[in-house]
Amino acid sequence: MAIAQTDVVSATLPGRSVAPRPLSSLGALFRIWRDPIGFFSETALRYGAVARFSIAGRDVIVVADPDVARQVLHQNAARYRKNFGALRDLIGQGVLTAEGALWRRLRELEQPVFRPSRMPDSAPSIVAAADATIADWAEAARSNRRIGIEPAIGRATLAVIVEFLLGSRLGGRAEAVRRDMEVVLAHAGRRAFALTALSGRLPTPENLACRRALARLDVFCAGLVAERRANPGNHDDLLSQLIDACDSPAWPEIDARQVRNEIMTYLFAGQETTATLLVWALHLLARNPACQARLKGEYERALAAGLVSPLAMDRVPMAEAVMQEAMRLYAPAWAISRTALAEDAIGGVAVRKGSIVVVCVQAMHRRPELWDEPESFRPERFDRQAAGRARHPFQYIPFGAGPRTCVGSRLAMLEAPYMVARLVQAYRFAPADAKPVALRSTITLRPRDPLRLEIGSW
Ligand code: HEM
Repeated sequence: MAIAQTDVVSATLPGRSVAPRPLSSLGALFRIWRDPIGFFSETALRYGAVARFSIAGRDVIVVADPDVARQVLHQNAARYRKNFGALRDLIGQGVLTAEGALWRRLRELEQPVFRPSRMPDSAPSIVAAADATIADWAEAARSNRRIGIEPAIGRATLAVIVEFLLGSRLGGRAEAVRRDMEVVLAHAGRRAFALTALSGRLPTPENLACRRALARLDVFCAGLVAERRANPGNHDDLLSQLIDACDSPAWPEIDARQVRNEIMTYLFAGQETTATLLVWALHLLARNPACQARLKGEYERALAAGLVSPLAMDRVPMAEAVMQEAMRLYAPAWAISRTALAEDAIGGVAVRKGSIVVVCVQAMHRRPELWDEPESFRPERFDRQAAGRARHPFQYIPFGAGPRTCVGSRLAMLEAPYMVARLVQAYRFAPADAKPVALRSTITLRPRDPLRLEIGSW
């Protein structure tokens, strides 16, 4: 895949503007509540790389510049803490939401589960998840039907997490667990951008439905632990690490509650993000039939040469490039938010203690100063040989950056390219209609309405 010279973006990023520009706070709160991504993306694109405004006396700083993102997430990371309060209140404090010593210990305990030498263990669950999705859609494909693709994709990514990390098969429980997680996530998203913290605590039907879903998920997590304790077997997975730590004096911070919190954390952090990526990738491929056919061809050539595993996807480089380009256009983790614990200065803007800094990944991934034809779907940008890969290291950060970077990125980048290649080989995807897809930005970036595609055979 060739790449145009214009794709090469120099590290000095000519044309960027980091001048602080005051922004009226009037109405900002309401707009954030109604359309978070619209508000933050527009702010980032309109006001330059760093924009500061104030809401109810608190500074909010929106960042869409790679150098400044590096400063916040990497160089000066110790001056900031994460803002995951809404999710933490619901699923509990785990490695995704914890800070300081507890976070360091959790990361130390869990990171080895994702070491490269353990990745081959994930392959059977990924293959099974792809097989199950293909089987789910067989009927629709026979009759060229339009269907919502999110439930089957969600079950597939959930199955991988539950099997690879927690050593269990979901079987008939998959859809119920997926739906409960949807309820909790949608609620967490609304709470994250709510006008007042009170709205999450009132006994509204939505709040009560979320509590019931969480209670069922708690039972599910407790069942996984009980199952494993009854049959310890010879596992080398996250659940074993957690249970062993819980029983060991060397890990005083891991008690039964923390085990539950970590299981919840991985269910949410690992399932939803990867599902979102796959949904967007299929949406983009459906609207780019030539690209879809090229991917199918490349995968079939690799198959003919004996490729059978998610671990050998380097022989289908286009699958990885499609996923990377999908995450550029639709970053599942569209914003990375921090609160300043101390004063700082970023891109020439003073940061007061207590300020909220939002690195708007989605806006940075589409800034015209950084990307050639930023709105176009062009997987060849991510061609391994392309000169464009010499771009600024913080210009493309779908998995975050710095010490809090995603612990599961390796798993996601094994799973997603394989899944998409298998699905495209099995079926031809076309848009259900020509309407542009509106965005719903909660904690992740999803299509606003259920994404429907026409599924047919080749
Ligand atoms: C396409 C898929 C994925 C995307 C786009 C993604 C994105 C991210 C991002 C941006 C962060 C950093 C958040 C921040 O700094 O505030 C993060 C953290 C995290 N991710 Fe992922 N992720 C994906 C898949 C996964 C998977 C498969 C797992 C686990 C199986 C996982 C587990 C985690 C955890 C535990 C953290 C917290 C790390 C920490 O704070 O130390 N993610 N992810």
